[in-house]
Amino acid sequence: MELRQSIKSVSLDDIEQQSKKVTAIMNEIRSVMLAPQSRKIPPVFGSADIQSLCGIDRAKLAYRMTLGDLPGGNVVGSRRVWTLEEGLTWVRSFRSSCLRPPGASAVTITVANFKGGVAKTTSAVSLAQGLSLRGHKVLMVDLDPQGSATTLFGLIPDAEVSSDQTALSLFAGEEDSLDYAIQKTYWHDIDLVGASPSLFGAEFALPARQMKDPGFEFWRTLDYGLDSARERYDVIVIDTPPALSYVTINSMLAADGMVIPLPPSALDFASSAQFWDLFSDLLQQLYSGGRKQKTFEFIDVLLSRVETSDTASSVVRQWIMEAYGDKVLPIEIPKTSVTSNASAEFGTVYDIPKGSVSAKTYSRARDAYDRYCQLVEEQIRAVWEKQVRSLND
Ligand SMILES: Nc1ncnc2c1ncn2[C@@H]1O[C@H](COP(=O)(O)OP(=O)(O)OP(=O)(O)O)[C@@H](O)[C@H]1O
Ligand SMILES: [Mg+2]
Repeated sequence: MELRQSIKSVSLDDIEQQSKKVTAIMNEIRSVMLAPQSRKIPPVFGSADIQSLCGIDRAKLAYRMTLGDLPGGNVVGSRRVWTLEEGLTWVRSFRSSCLRPPGASAVTITVANFKGGVAKTTSAVSLAQGLSLRGHKVLMVDLDPQGSATTLFGLIPDAEVSSDQTALSLFAGEEDSLDYAIQKTYWHDIDLVGASPSLFGAEFALPARQMKDPGFEFWRTLDYGLDSARERYDVIVIDTPPALSYVTINSMLAADGMVIPLPPSALDFASSAQFWDLFSDLLQQLYSGGRKQKTFEFIDVLLSRVETSDTASSVVRQWIMEAYGDKVLPIEIPKTSVTSNASAEFGTVYDIPKGSVSAKTYSRARDAYDRYCQLVEEQIRAVWEKQVRSLND
């Protein structure tokens, strides 16, 4: 039989050229996207936004303005506009009873699922931003060498994050605390530990350390490394790679709570069964021999990328409910062009201005992410209460 298609062989040189070309294009896209400041720009707020973030009405906002103790914003044209930092000062003032109480420390939340493309990074970064908009100080830790969360913060992993700005030195044993890697971001009150491909090195460093020193508990490295940050932040959100890597194990065992994004598709459901199987085996192995058991304060299954019109997904949704019961958060994140549009601009629903898509589509997406963040915040507050109670006991 005659072959209809010709093949095109690819040499090592071609691969190098290809790599250079795509990197150059990525740099170009980034500089166009982030022009003119060459960094991401945080959202700004109008009075309606301040009212909804603070849970107050127009009259209350007007009254508080007369007191003059909170930032007055700037009048731009006919509109009063507050910067993100100013807006968060308002939020903290009105939501003071929801914030981390004295004596409590940061709640660490790991977003994980060994399956790729289930919206881990989108769910992690949106959670960090949504919690920040509720007044919390957040540390975002990107532990995926792909650096997708880092990219959503406007940094190119290869070019702009050096290996000593990632968690690699912690995993390699050169540092005991992750503090060295924390950097500020464009988003006031979210700091970042970035990731870059160099973080793959952790997959060699951790087993090597374990070989050398059998008493070394490789799975506790991140947990200990976050101790100092736990005193300064309200919430730590960790994004993980789509694999059961040494780094993922560390992320899960450093967590107080986990969020497992799960699209209602048959393949994703099937792979979630493997996730639980491996996860359970792993915990049995690590905590055999009388070691102090690990307890998660909460594990949430988040229905992500849900296509509402898809009948197949409603069947799978039933399987999910049956299998995971009350672990399933009572909210579905719809598959929406708002999220895809935002990610095309390296952002999330919390980055794009309200007017950039139709109001109905925007609020459907925004409401779902807001509710998700609210549900997680309720659990965070319950963990803080528990911490404070145990201090007083
Ligand atoms: N609700 C949504 N609606 C539409 N697109 C979405 C939604 N959530 C995520 N996506 C898109 O799906 C793709 C995968 O999402 P994301 O990168 O968050 O998944 P991931 O699980 O982190 O992937 P990986 O396993 O590679 O780390 C991205 O292009 C993202 O923009
Ligand atoms: Mg990801």
